[in-house]
Amino acid sequence: MTVHIGAQPGQIAETVLMPGDPYRAKWIAETFLQDAECINQVRGMLGFTGTWNGNRVTVQGSGMGMPSFSIYANELIRDYGAKTLIRIGSCGGMQHHVKVRDVIIAMTCTTMSTPSRGILRDLNFAPCADYGLLAAAVEAAKSVDVTTHVGNIYSSDTFYDERNDLQEQMIRHGVLGVEMEAAELYILAARHKARALAVFTVSDHLLTHEALPSEDREKTFGDMVEIALEAAFA
Ligand code: HPA
Repeated sequence: MTVHIGAQPGQIAETVLMPGDPYRAKWIAETFLQDAECINQVRGMLGFTGTWNGNRVTVQGSGMGMPSFSIYANELIRDYGAKTLIRIGSCGGMQHHVKVRDVIIAMTCTTMSTPSRGILRDLNFAPCADYGLLAAAVEAAKSVDVTTHVGNIYSSDTFYDERNDLQEQMIRHGVLGVEMEAAELYILAARHKARALAVFTVSDHLLTHEALPSEDREKTFGDMVEIALEAAFA
């Protein structure tokens, strides 16, 4: 047990999918995993371990924002020995060619700050995906009926961002979408020699203000889970 995860040693798999929402973790376990058991309920941040195509996998909620994400990822890697961590989440679209329902695979993450800032200080470290996982996810996406983009995303500390000038520069520099966790995942994975990837469905759009209707969320979320699982065990 750690401060935030109640699992016993050995109850967490080396491969962990990390949705922000704990109820998504439950839905993924029920929909995609065999023999899933709940391995964490501390603070309601549900985690489950089961198998997918015979491969052992844990799905652990991370909460929203990099400080929350960082707590779970640190404990998963350092205390439970997680080796492959894949964030699956939603993001806001930031380019006109990126549409609501599309999938984005994050090659790299732009950020203003992360919980690792205290360690990296004035270094503008470039958080990047594990290339093997990235390539496998791109390959897996070809068999899923969804438009997929690969590139730079913005990991923000604010959902209600009032810096319009900043958004303009992101868009100008080709950033595909905005979310709130992946940069810290990529930095932690680099530090602890783990493999990391982040895959997103575009749930809303900063330019068109379109939002994914709730009845479409499950299907698009499922496509992304499929891509993440295929990539993890390719
Ligand atoms: N901003 C930040 N995170 C998000 C968004 C957004 O617009 N949409 C989904 N996650």
